[in-house]
Amino acid sequence: MTQPTVNLNTKLFNHTETELNDFAPRILNWFDSHGRHDLPWQQHKTDTPNPYIVWLSEVMLQQTQVTTVIPYFQRFMSSFPSVQDLANADWDMVAEHWAGLGYYARARNLHKGAKQLVEIINETGDFPQTVEGWEAISGVGQSTAGAIVAMGLHGYGVICDGNVKRVITRWAGIDGDITKSATNKQLWALAERLTPIEDSGHFAQAMMDMGATLCTRRNPNCEACPISKDCVAHAQGREMDYPFKAKKKPKPSKFSNALVLLNSKNEILWLQRPDSGIWGGLWVLPLQFEKKILGKKVLSTSEEDSVFESENTLAEQIVDKWINDNELQALSVNDGLLESAPIKHTLTHFHWYLQPQKLVLEDQQSQQITELLKQTEISLAWLSANEAKQTLGLPKAMLKVLETPELCVI
Ligand code: ADE
Repeated sequence: MTQPTVNLNTKLFNHTETELNDFAPRILNWFDSHGRHDLPWQQHKTDTPNPYIVWLSEVMLQQTQVTTVIPYFQRFMSSFPSVQDLANADWDMVAEHWAGLGYYARARNLHKGAKQLVEIINETGDFPQTVEGWEAISGVGQSTAGAIVAMGLHGYGVICDGNVKRVITRWAGIDGDITKSATNKQLWALAERLTPIEDSGHFAQAMMDMGATLCTRRNPNCEACPISKDCVAHAQGREMDYPFKAKKKPKPSKFSNALVLLNSKNEILWLQRPDSGIWGGLWVLPLQFEKKILGKKVLSTSEEDSVFESENTLAEQIVDKWINDNELQALSVNDGLLESAPIKHTLTHFHWYLQPQKLVLEDQQSQQITELLKQTEISLAWLSANEAKQTLGLPKAMLKVLETPELCVI
């Protein structure tokens, strides 16, 4: 079992040794009677924990709420009951299972991570057993690795995710900017100091529950809190000032047309995006990144223009050129009687405005564009909106486009 690396004799913390030592027992005691004990991925009550389950659920939970994750987790487990099943699955199948959870890089990392894990299992006979071993797996950061070792292997692991940071910045009155590495180091040192060596899995579960159900961002329930009597934020009446995060610059915006190209069978052209970049490996409509969107006149800055002009994939460039060469006119739904705003979709680093556009092709035209695209390695499919929804694992923004009433494709 790995020992904590912080020198416990150094006076690093604001609380007394007794308060620091009492922290975990109070949290664990609270967890016994008030924590969540029936989440489908929990392994704290089993003698033979399954690290695959914990890894899978932790990756899903990285940016997504428990209630959203549960049905996805259950479907993953039923289709891919073991890491080998996941590693051997086709990417399209994994993407389809992930569709709607967002942050698709997580799905790609999960698939890649499954392959890495199977390789390790084939070599060593088992999953990685250390935090460092797990950190080497795609998509697994320090806190996720700590959670897997603590909860999935019943070893010693420390977690310091968003929930934990909120609880401990409040309790210890740490008011440094949590996006700065100095504050982050301080938080990790405190998390490590507070984590009991023998019971880190229970403690990890308990801290997650504290953050999710008691010490919540907007509405902390200090009356019911087992650590409020020596909580600095509570004593100051400043719970909402923690954790402190410097204001981020506003997100930039991108603009693109989303082309609904229909053939005579009412099927839509779908293109699979390259593995890297936005929506890597997913099936989406052809996009045309634009300087601005007409209709609701969302204007971009010239700085942003240079970014998105280079963003059209090879397939999209082919589609774009073919439309221009043939002087075809896609019909923006905004050109109709109803003026609908472009669909706004927010991703981690930018807002994305997608303008649905519709173009109905004659047979000879749909054959021509299919032939042109097939001359390259591009994967394409003609599927009705409903077939695509059921089989391709479309990102949420694509569903929003399809549901635009003026398009009449659903
Ligand atoms: N958030 C991150 N990991 C979690 C877990 N194991 N249970 C509940 N919420 C979580």
